[in-house]
Amino acid sequence: DVIREIEGLGKKERRLAEKLGLQHVLIVPGDADLDPLVKKALGHAAADYIRGILKSGDILAVTGGTTAATLADQMQRTQLGVEVVPARGGIGENMEFQANTIASRLASQLGGTYRLLHAPDLMSDEALQSFISEPHVQETLQRIRRARMVVHGIGQAIPMARRRKLPDAKIEQLAGQGAIAEAFGYYFDRSGNIVHAMNTVGLRLSDLKHIERIVAVAGGKSKAEAISAVAHGCPLHVLVTDEAVADAILTHR
Ligand code: BG6
Repeated sequence: DVIREIEGLGKKERRLAEKLGLQHVLIVPGDADLDPLVKKALGHAAADYIRGILKSGDILAVTGGTTAATLADQMQRTQLGVEVVPARGGIGENMEFQANTIASRLASQLGGTYRLLHAPDLMSDEALQSFISEPHVQETLQRIRRARMVVHGIGQAIPMARRRKLPDAKIEQLAGQGAIAEAFGYYFDRSGNIVHAMNTVGLRLSDLKHIERIVAVAGGKSKAEAISAVAHGCPLHVLVTDEAVADAILTHR
């Protein structure tokens, strides 16, 4: 902590928390866009923070993404006895970055259990309804809504839409609507308004207000605007980010 103050990070953390209306901000030095070690440090900082807060019997919900995957890699082994669940199912990620994969890896590091949501990516409304009505899916969804902590990534809208292979017409429409950020399968404009939501199961944005601690982990200067938009549009308590994002947001009027 002494080192953080000398580097001026502690002060930036407090200024950024105030600017974004958050309880707490953690900043790692550098820019994750330029250096993969910075992403690793982000994952490490987030993992340590989460481990320090979780208590035995807690439910932890996680999203997918490469940053969340790094967090799982960086999680130290403990015996916490928590349950880890994916925040949402089926939003078009590669296997290694899927929320299910990350939930199971985190559970093994934390000495806990996990439940998965095997929801296919593209489901008709009818299929989605019948999937949701399955008793074991119902049970998992209830566990997800009872999470004490949610950890999620934040992405830029258009790169995320491309990564998820949304049709070109949809991507153009998103761009036209001013989509700039993505989190939990929701796409937001600059002011944090939802412009599009993926049709899937799991946490809805409206569930977030019941969750005690929501932690976002995202870095790299290119995500600065997306992070601000999500901080405005989504309930969020804690942000783990890098200095490049902090500087970009703090210097923006
Ligand atoms: C996804 C999350 O899996 O990862 C999104 O569901 C998030 O909410 C995205 O935007 C971020 O991915 P990355 O790879 O940039 O950490």
